[in-house]
Amino acid sequence: MHEALAERYETSLAGVDWSEMKATLIADAFDNGRSPEELRRSFEQSFGAVIAYAQDRIVGTARALSDGICNAYVVDVWTFTPYRRRGIARTMMKMLESKLEGQHVALFTSEAVAFYRALGFSEEPVGLSKAVGKWLQRRA
Ligand SMILES: CC(C)(COP(=O)(O)OP(=O)(O)OC[C@H]1O[C@@H](n2cnc3c(N)ncnc32)[C@H](O)[C@@H]1OP(=O)(O)O)[C@@H](O)C(=O)NCCC(=O)NCCS
Repeated sequence: MHEALAERYETSLAGVDWSEMKATLIADAFDNGRSPEELRRSFEQSFGAVIAYAQDRIVGTARALSDGICNAYVVDVWTFTPYRRRGIARTMMKMLESKLEGQHVALFTSEAVAFYRALGFSEEPVGLSKAVGKWLQRRA
């Protein structure tokens, strides 16, 4: 077996080491400021999530927010750099999409347009977004 191939994909979040996820995201320059506990909550409160592991280390994530009926939003799609271009993100997205049949799936990306196009996404004429207040700042 090739050392860099993902060995397994999990949709269960039981046993995820959120500190390890945070450390690998930092090492890969894809950390966006969430603490390990905030990572856990954001994944656990999602409609669906997939974690890719190789040699029992986290090498990929993807998750979807959804109303379960018609609209979904995909976030945190990431493959650890040494494992890219091996179909890991495509597999994670396929697994997520299996829970989203019939729904319109939206996302934002600055870097990964070619990836999403390869998966059948097309650009919409206008996308608008804003952070409500300051990113990750909440009143208790
Ligand atoms: C985008 C990203 C998730 C792709 O992960 P990946 O596991 O390498 O993707 P895959 O190997 O499944 O790629 C599937 C297909 O997408 C396309 N693709 C993926 N990365 C690409 C790139 N850098 N340039 C052009 N096409 C690309 C290719 O068609 C590829 O198929 P191929 O390798 O047979 O040609 C990964 O590059 C990443 O983590 N980037 C940084 C985080 C990011 O920008 N995430 C999106 C945030 S919304």
